[in-house]
Amino acid sequence: MEPFIQELMSKMSTKEKIGQLFQSNIPEFKVEGNVLVEQDIHKLIRNNEVGSLIAIKDPRIIKQLQEYNMEHSKHKIPLFVAEDIIHGCKTIFPINLGLACSFNESLIEKIAQTSAYEATSMGINLTFSPMADLVRDPRWGRVMESNGEDPYLNKVLTKAYVNGYQQDSLKNKHAIGACVKHFAAYGASESGREYNTVDISRQALWYNYLSGYQSAIDNNVASVMTAFNTFEGVAASVNSYLMNDVLREKFNFKGFVITDFTATYECIDHKVCKDNKDAALKTLNCQVDHEMVSQTYQENLATLLEEGRISEQQIDQACYRILKFKFDCGLFDDPFKNCYDDFEDRILQPEALQLSKEAAYQSCVLLKNTENALPLGDNEKVGIVGPHIDVLEHNGNWSVMADSKNNYKITDIFKNDNIIFSKGCHLTEDSSDKELINQAVIDCANVDKIVLFVGEPEIMSGEATSRAYLNLPGNQQRLFEALLELNKPIILVVLAGRPLEMKYYEDNATAILYAWFLGTMSSPALKDILFGKANPSGKLSMSFPYTVGQIPVYYNQLNTGRPSASGSYEQYRSSYIDIPNGPLYPFGYGLSYTSFKLEDITFSSLSLSNSNSIEIKLTVTNTGLYDGYEVVQLYVGALYDDISRPNKELKGFKKVFVKQNESIEVKFELTKEELSYYNSKGEIIYSEGNYNIFIGTDSDTSITNVINYTK
Ligand code: GLC
Repeated sequence: MEPFIQELMSKMSTKEKIGQLFQSNIPEFKVEGNVLVEQDIHKLIRNNEVGSLIAIKDPRIIKQLQEYNMEHSKHKIPLFVAEDIIHGCKTIFPINLGLACSFNESLIEKIAQTSAYEATSMGINLTFSPMADLVRDPRWGRVMESNGEDPYLNKVLTKAYVNGYQQDSLKNKHAIGACVKHFAAYGASESGREYNTVDISRQALWYNYLSGYQSAIDNNVASVMTAFNTFEGVAASVNSYLMNDVLREKFNFKGFVITDFTATYECIDHKVCKDNKDAALKTLNCQVDHEMVSQTYQENLATLLEEGRISEQQIDQACYRILKFKFDCGLFDDPFKNCYDDFEDRILQPEALQLSKEAAYQSCVLLKNTENALPLGDNEKVGIVGPHIDVLEHNGNWSVMADSKNNYKITDIFKNDNIIFSKGCHLTEDSSDKELINQAVIDCANVDKIVLFVGEPEIMSGEATSRAYLNLPGNQQRLFEALLELNKPIILVVLAGRPLEMKYYEDNATAILYAWFLGTMSSPALKDILFGKANPSGKLSMSFPYTVGQIPVYYNQLNTGRPSASGSYEQYRSSYIDIPNGPLYPFGYGLSYTSFKLEDITFSSLSLSNSNSIEIKLTVTNTGLYDGYEVVQLYVGALYDDISRPNKELKGFKKVFVKQNESIEVKFELTKEELSYYNSKGEIIYSEGNYNIFIGTDSDTSITNVINYTK
């Protein structure tokens, strides 16, 4: 234990140590002028009953509370302040599911670093990010903040977020503590219904769901947040297998664990705790160190100690981990290290805005582009239509620190002589829609092309937004059908927080650009893309189902005992009678304005052992008319093992920028690591045998070669 912390704790009473285990929120401020008037929080501080604060958006209030704390608390232990900086702070970047489509870990690291700079300029010391929940169900609204459906992509991107936030030391002026969440497997909520039961096997947990959290821990993430859901029938916050066996033993996590918002109280509703006292006991026995907003620790730990049901050592351990985080952040050296009077000059800076625009280019996924619909010509008469064109809300959910007034309306950014605007309808049902639809048809009568901006309202994804239907809400499809009657090319631009049902639009739109929610620079970025100043390069981080009835659908499926060779209906084979097995758009898929060719794929050997690796080389040639990025993807598929393993699993990717008519060499190194997996005991297994290798530009790619691994 740090001698400094040891010395400090030796002076603290048990009650004061318990006080460090509580994170308080202040539901609302009473401010006179810019000064916070006396509140309960001041009493908590004076009584040494709070260790950190959550969700304070005004850096002046943070500074005042820290000043009050340093003056009135007994041991002058700095508070830390936490916030949900998920895809940006004041400069908002594309939602994480969109950022994952960039397949660009260095971009994401830069975004995390930029977010940390702005957040630490606003007094914040810890962010509740990255969210590393693997997702396979777009009915769940929180897919928007995830890295998508693949364990490898989740691992790589989670590492990038943690490194961008925490940099080489938490003592850095603009490093911020990261908190990986939600441990564990919250993304497997049954039927995509929010806060629902998670009932997956330990094999599934280890094979697919833990890679992101483990990646964060392997990269020294400061904290872990417990999930709301159950695993094996026990709520995560009081689940000894998850919190002790996996997190502390297997993953050797040394940082602090914080519950999700009142998750301890919820263990009573989960019916695994009798009352708050029982919740406190079971949560502490799971080595949870900090309680977010609920107060079972404050109200019960002292009594549990007196009753001999917990030990002083348990309280000391939790208190130590909190003090250690504050020490590592340098808060004892300078409690005001993240308090800046000039914070307005440190946010929304040009380089941050430019990064957000670049991120938008790389997050948008071009799903369809026929008849050369895109990019638009400067002299084409274009009808810009749809419910998203005259609104500023393009940040997406979990942009709690941002203000949409910093965004731009499409109607402002796209204005020029060749463009007419027509709202067409609202994002959700509205009595004026019928008239708006008729007007849009009239307005577009003489244009060459129609660009229709549709999707979801940004508040329809994020926490507590599960949907049973995945259609475009309201009258948006009616608007599309009415415009279709004009027999003009319709380019669909979708702004949404999740994959939606796109089959009807795949059949009837001329082009489809899936733009997720792109943040502050959404409209300028979309203008650059639609007019060809930027070439979209996103590759899907999550499969798109034909229909909601197909969910869960994901690329790394098992073969089954009766595989359908065609992937479509075959009697007595694993298939549907009404749709194909695969998704409408597969993981890793995305078009470009240009075209690429992969050729000269060579393997240095087809035999792998523990003492050698296989080098795979290939050439990527840009055969089209635009410079652009391509993402070359390496998939591996075990032909046989002790358990049935997916037909293909992403084990590498290289994002390359290739100018038109130019070629670039790409290399992968294949080792036994790429063939390994975790079994249900959390052991890494290396199995000898043959493996299919796939090199391509999406997960639908066919076999490239077969290699053999012998130890
Ligand atoms: C919420 C979310 C969690 C978030 C926390 C604090 O309920 O589940 O992701 O970080 O509360 O806002």
